[in-house]
Amino acid sequence: MSRKIGIVGSGVVGQTLANGFVKHGYDVTIGTNTPGKREELKAKTYGKAAVGSFEDAAVFGDIVVLATKGTAAESALRAAGIANLKGKTIIDTTNPIAERPPVNGVLQYFTSANESLMEKLQALAPEAQFVKAFSCVGNAFMVNPDFGGVTPTMFICGNDEGAKNGVKTILDQFGFEVADMGAAEGARAIEPLCILWCIPGFLTNSWTHAFKLLRR
Ligand SMILES: NC(=O)c1ccc[n+]([C@@H]2O[C@H](COP(=O)([O-])OP(=O)(O)OC[C@H]3O[C@@H](n4cnc5c(N)ncnc54)[C@H](OP(=O)(O)O)[C@@H]3O)[C@@H](O)[C@H]2O)c1
Repeated sequence: MSRKIGIVGSGVVGQTLANGFVKHGYDVTIGTNTPGKREELKAKTYGKAAVGSFEDAAVFGDIVVLATKGTAAESALRAAGIANLKGKTIIDTTNPIAERPPVNGVLQYFTSANESLMEKLQALAPEAQFVKAFSCVGNAFMVNPDFGGVTPTMFICGNDEGAKNGVKTILDQFGFEVADMGAAEGARAIEPLCILWCIPGFLTNSWTHAFKLLRR
């Protein structure tokens, strides 16, 4: 599997995953749409990731991580260059959080129940292989989280089995067991897990949990 990761998105998720991939021996380029943020990004990635534009990250990565604000995800993909994503696995961390405040701790989404942000992104870049991942856990727990010996579950979905297998390998390195929720439509169920994950945070300032799927 390729070791070249491009990260489109400069927020805490982009930074956390950039440092996680570096830790696991990958070559990383992280991109921001704001040139003034590049120096800060170099510091936040300890000089170990290359820093550039969204397009630089998309060109560099054989695997591309999308880690922008949900409302900006489509414009970020356009800025990255749809042609630059052709044939590549896109790890989609985004959630469709609306620009409206939570209601009693419940985030509002700009998508409805029978659609998802990832399906829109897959339609925008049909020759890329989107895999939803890292969307249902807080950034503090994205890289080898310690839950006292219990392995948390990462819910993923996507249309391409090969792309999902590559992401499963990465998630195994990052300390997760994988629950594969099928094709892209599975994102209609995975994206709302972020709403559920955030409720204890907004209501009781409790942000230190992750999902675990019990099986027998
Ligand atoms: N924070 C978490 O713990 C967490 C956990 C799971 C999933 N997620 C999801 O991961 C994604 C990233 O979250 P985040 O917390 O790292 O940061 P964020 O603030 O949601 O996103 C930051 C990124 O979005 C870009 N952006 C914002 N507005 C834009 C616009 N109008 N046009 C183009 N780009 C724009 C920023 O561009 P610049 O580079 O130019 O600043 C930056 O790269 C979100 O979709 C979030 O729902 C977050």
